[in-house]
Amino acid sequence: MTNFEQLKEYGQEHLLRYWDELSDAEKQSLKEQINEADFTILKELANKDEKVMDENSAGALAPLGALEIDEIDKKKAEFEAVGIKALQEGKVCALLLGGGQGTRLGHTGPKGSYNIGVTRDFYIFEAQINNMLDVCKKAGCYFPLVIMTSDKNDEETRRFLKEHAYFGYPEEKIRFFRQEMAPSCDYNGKIYMEGKAQLSLSPNGNGGWFKSLVKSGIDKELKEAGVEWINVFSMDNVLQRICDPVFIGATILSGTNCGAKVVSKNAPGEKVGALCLKDGLPTIVEYYELGDDLANELDENGKLKYRFGVILNYLFSMKRMYEIVDGKMPLHIVEKKIPYMNEAGEMVKPEKENGYKFEYLAIDTVRDMLTCLSYEVDREKEFAPIKNKEGVDSVVSARALLAKNGVIC
Ligand code: UTP
Repeated sequence: MTNFEQLKEYGQEHLLRYWDELSDAEKQSLKEQINEADFTILKELANKDEKVMDENSAGALAPLGALEIDEIDKKKAEFEAVGIKALQEGKVCALLLGGGQGTRLGHTGPKGSYNIGVTRDFYIFEAQINNMLDVCKKAGCYFPLVIMTSDKNDEETRRFLKEHAYFGYPEEKIRFFRQEMAPSCDYNGKIYMEGKAQLSLSPNGNGGWFKSLVKSGIDKELKEAGVEWINVFSMDNVLQRICDPVFIGATILSGTNCGAKVVSKNAPGEKVGALCLKDGLPTIVEYYELGDDLANELDENGKLKYRFGVILNYLFSMKRMYEIVDGKMPLHIVEKKIPYMNEAGEMVKPEKENGYKFEYLAIDTVRDMLTCLSYEVDREKEFAPIKNKEGVDSVVSARALLAKNGVIC
């Protein structure tokens, strides 16, 4: 049975409301979107509340200690040598999660094309690539940079980077692939339309990156080139070290399947996921799932027990990623403002949340890795996330942190 025939079963017949008005090309396009759409995710809406309870169950949580900054400093030379060697041998690549929409920033283009400069042009992409070039200089080699985009920003991302000559990174070292899209729906589970022949589709979260990488075939190219480790990082943090040799070396020597950079939270309620143990496995618990009591609990030294927060910079073993790629990931149902076409055929940009998007999250991969090195970095030197224009985690706060680190823009 094609998805086209499943419209009735899933209560989505409204998607064909304008069928008779459509041109042949539009009909074909709509048909393809319907056939490609994964309607089964809509079933998850039925047990949404149970799922939330399950995710919130904090019964078997325990703190996971990190390799802390002072310990790292003592072994820095050893870690760095191992990391540099891995980079020189081509065992590590960087993978940028660039499929997000940056809605909080309110920028229509790809988030990386946002100009955060005041005295000069300085783009988010440029900040990330500069950070990579620092490492390349140190290691004396370039490493592959793989960029995940989405249908919404793929062309613009490629064009923008080309226009800026990839900010000095060698073009032949860069690859792009697209992530999957998922339909968005209203509170009754009806998929929104964005046009008479256009379903409302949005990127399906940052968790499906490896599946999409495999679908693109680029994984094979990386494997053949000898890549064993993938440093996954987000677009937001303009201070992060990418393919940081010390982090790579520490992770390799730890014998774990992954490394996660963490910072010491600046407050119990800071909006970062806590890396801890759940039923003995490394797990990232979102700040809103941890609960006030655990978030404030202190250890014997008077420090927060769950103080290590992730900054979306992970080193994943490619071998382990292959082992789990066909496994089922938890699907997160997120309330969002979803632009849609109303019954009168007009586009509406809602002021407040009006439905759900479905997302897989990279944080869930850490649990599947079974073992994880929690690796502390200095937040003043490595954590300047840009989520908003102003206020907390914003362009303004990131500029100030960049300036503290000698990057005046
Ligand atoms: P965020 O969760 O901050 O989402 O992404 P966002 O889309 O950038 O911003 P908002 O929530 O709309 O304001 C964290 C990282 O994950 C990537 C983003 O590009 C960013 O690097 N991401 C997010 C994807 O690659 N794909 C997605 O579907 C979602």
